[in-house]
Amino acid sequence: MPKPATGREREEGAAGQSETPYLDALRAYAARSPGRFHVPGHKGGLGADPGLAEAIGERALALDIPALTWGIDVGDEPTPFLEAQRLAAEAWGARRTWWLVNGASQGNHVALLTLGHRGYEVVTQRNAHSSTIDALIMSGLRPTFVAPELDPDLHIAHCMTPDALDRALTDAPNAVGATVVSPTYFGAVADVAGLAEVAHGYGVPLIVDEAWGAHLAFHEDLPAHALSRGADLVITSMHKIVGSLTQSAMVHLGDGELIEEGVVDRCVTLVESTSPNALLFGSLDAARRSAAVAGRELLGETLRALERTRSAVREIPGLDVLDERLAGAPGVFDYDPLRLAIDVRGTGRSGYELARLLRQRHDVNLELAGETVMVAVFGMGEEATRAAQQLVGSVRRVIDSVSDELGGVPLEPFAPPPPWGQLVMTPREAFLGPQEIVPTRAAVGRVAAESLAAYPPGIPNVLPGERLTAETLDYIAQTLASGGSLRGASDRALRTLRVVVES
Ligand SMILES: Cc1ncc(COP(=O)(O)O)c(C=O)c1O
Repeated sequence: MPKPATGREREEGAAGQSETPYLDALRAYAARSPGRFHVPGHKGGLGADPGLAEAIGERALALDIPALTWGIDVGDEPTPFLEAQRLAAEAWGARRTWWLVNGASQGNHVALLTLGHRGYEVVTQRNAHSSTIDALIMSGLRPTFVAPELDPDLHIAHCMTPDALDRALTDAPNAVGATVVSPTYFGAVADVAGLAEVAHGYGVPLIVDEAWGAHLAFHEDLPAHALSRGADLVITSMHKIVGSLTQSAMVHLGDGELIEEGVVDRCVTLVESTSPNALLFGSLDAARRSAAVAGRELLGETLRALERTRSAVREIPGLDVLDERLAGAPGVFDYDPLRLAIDVRGTGRSGYELARLLRQRHDVNLELAGETVMVAVFGMGEEATRAAQQLVGSVRRVIDSVSDELGGVPLEPFAPPPPWGQLVMTPREAFLGPQEIVPTRAAVGRVAAESLAAYPPGIPNVLPGERLTAETLDYIAQTLASGGSLRGASDRALRTLRVVVES
């Protein structure tokens, strides 16, 4: 059995990485057909609708066991629940790991609520996931935003650089922490060691949203994972690539002393149901075992298949791929090859259009489509070679069918977005205070109560609490007029806007 990527010494008699104590405890409980005089009301499947039982299987229903069940998460310590989370911490080299049932979104909520125990201000990457913006609202923290590096050719955003973080922390001396995203949707990996050094130089913790990087700890050919590069708190979306069930995720605490374990623990509870789903937890236990025991082999196979696939895609006229050639570009320290980002600029068609044709004609469904790039995700243990053949064959047929126009339409020149407006109240104050909906032309000078992010490149132009400027609203209107889209807005056509009623 290969050793986990970043292991810690385990105590005599403690479970090892090839074991799944929590999943085993669930199975043992279900197998002994206990008297189930507790929730859920379907009682291990007996009371479930037959359609549900047929769809997901009786065994899944039997394992749907509530929290606070003796011998699973209460009883003699360490309970299987604690022991399984200890194994997760060991596998990623964390001081402590918490399982989450509301995705990496919950992890971002936990992270900012945790920082909220240190003070009132935070430095945040401007194009953070929407759950980080929501976490600003929940925590009440006042953000100083940092722009990611923009790729002027691909019209996409990469990561935040250490220099940019340094400038932001100088400008925000009261900030109590910094949050960054790495890897991005497109595979760009940040210089986490550099970012951590900068943050620690200011005496504040670095939080990394590694939603897309749970696999990085398990193969030496992949970029190093954030915890191993000095991050203080790392959020991973286990379901995205490592194979746990949708909605399951983890938050890992690093070795530094800047974040208190007890505070993270309290914040996890604050944003978690009192009835977390045992199947989600069980899937985290199993996915951790799979990654720690077989991850190196499984990832090696996926990496080889993706290398072949990248070559095959590059042979299709008009197509290129994002790969390690991107490393070294501004905001790209390293490249994570575990997704297939296809550069479609040479086809004269947008990624949106090609992705739609793939779906409509071939039932091939991608993770993401943008103007210049479309992204296919590959999981750690899937049979990547076969899946990739299906994808490449379908892409080739779609490109053949549109080949008349290949290379025909040059991209509009990239106009960087205007600076975002002044933050005059915290996102929380703007989100929770009195609001009204006004026609967009009347919104100039008002304070936004909602987010607006024009795609491409998808970096929020407006966030709650910021004063709206004519320049920004014109820019968004122009992006929409040239075929772009708007996310976050209550009116996606931008006819009206939700603004704060200022007293
Ligand atoms: C960078 C980033 N963070 C967090 C999330 C939220 O993850 P989840 O869907 O597991 O809540 C996503 C989802 O795509 C993401 O891309």
